[in-house]
Amino acid sequence: MDLNLTGKVALVLASSSGLGKAIAKELAKEGANVMLTSRNEEKLAAAKKDIEKVAVGKVAYTVADITDAENIKNLVENTRSEFGPISVLVNNAGGPPGGTFEDFDDEDWQKAFDLTLFSFIRTIREVLPDLKKTGGHILNNTSSSVKQPIDGLTLSNVFRMGISGLSKSLSQELAADGILVNTIGPGRIETDRIVELDSKKAEKQNKTQEEVTEAMEKTIPLGRYGEPEEFAKVATFLVSGANTYLTGQTILVDGGMVKAY
Ligand SMILES: NC(=O)c1ccc[n+]([C@@H]2O[C@H](COP(=O)([O-])OP(=O)(O)OC[C@H]3O[C@@H](n4cnc5c(N)ncnc54)[C@H](OP(=O)(O)O)[C@@H]3O)[C@@H](O)[C@H]2O)c1
Repeated sequence: MDLNLTGKVALVLASSSGLGKAIAKELAKEGANVMLTSRNEEKLAAAKKDIEKVAVGKVAYTVADITDAENIKNLVENTRSEFGPISVLVNNAGGPPGGTFEDFDDEDWQKAFDLTLFSFIRTIREVLPDLKKTGGHILNNTSSSVKQPIDGLTLSNVFRMGISGLSKSLSQELAADGILVNTIGPGRIETDRIVELDSKKAEKQNKTQEEVTEAMEKTIPLGRYGEPEEFAKVATFLVSGANTYLTGQTILVDGGMVKAY
């Protein structure tokens, strides 16, 4: 199958590590010119170097905090001037802090909104003029919690559903412009964040991290956490030229963990 990504311009948010980096790597391998971004220049430089080992397309980075509107404008402008009009936008962000409803005050809710949902809204608004010219794809990364809320992750559960609503609305509104909009949701994909979450849980429960991970893996029908590359391959298909008819959908990459349809 030809993914038809050669020379396409892709902007991947939160891509210095984890899922964002894995998606950026897969896109670059398939010939797209990829703009990486995050807050940390050192991590970005290391990610660029690693991706360039396998990249067919070009790779660049821009330092940006996606909770800041000016940073987002500058990021999109830089991507255009480096590579030309953007036709692939992958929205992704760091996860909001864990906790239950009574743990959070107004500031926590505002911060989580800015990071998890408003960053996607603002970036889409900036990139839209390009997408309207080129056609293309928007992919919003969320979580398996869009189908089944996760205990102890109230902020995430709330704002991820906002992303689902945004994606579905946009898929309707932008179809006439040839823009396909989808949502992807990881279950348990082995990134630094997941390792850190398991080790915090282990500390609380007075267990080893291996014991916590093993117990989690038992809840997954495929019996293990996913690899970032496995997740990235699905994401890459969704934003590729090979995907011409799938829009407005939520695809979970979770090894069968969530039982909801
Ligand atoms: N991994 C999973 O199985 C899983 C499951 C469910 C949901 N998710 C969600 O998927 C997303 C990515 O997860 P991950 O596992 O890849 O996490 P990760 O390894 O912690 O990576 C997060 C990325 O976000 C960047 N970032 C954080 N805050 C930022 C900001 N304000 N501005 C710009 N960049 C920012 C980080 O870069 P810098 O530190 O360099 O800024 C990093 O590149 C998260 O929202 C997570 O909650 C993941």
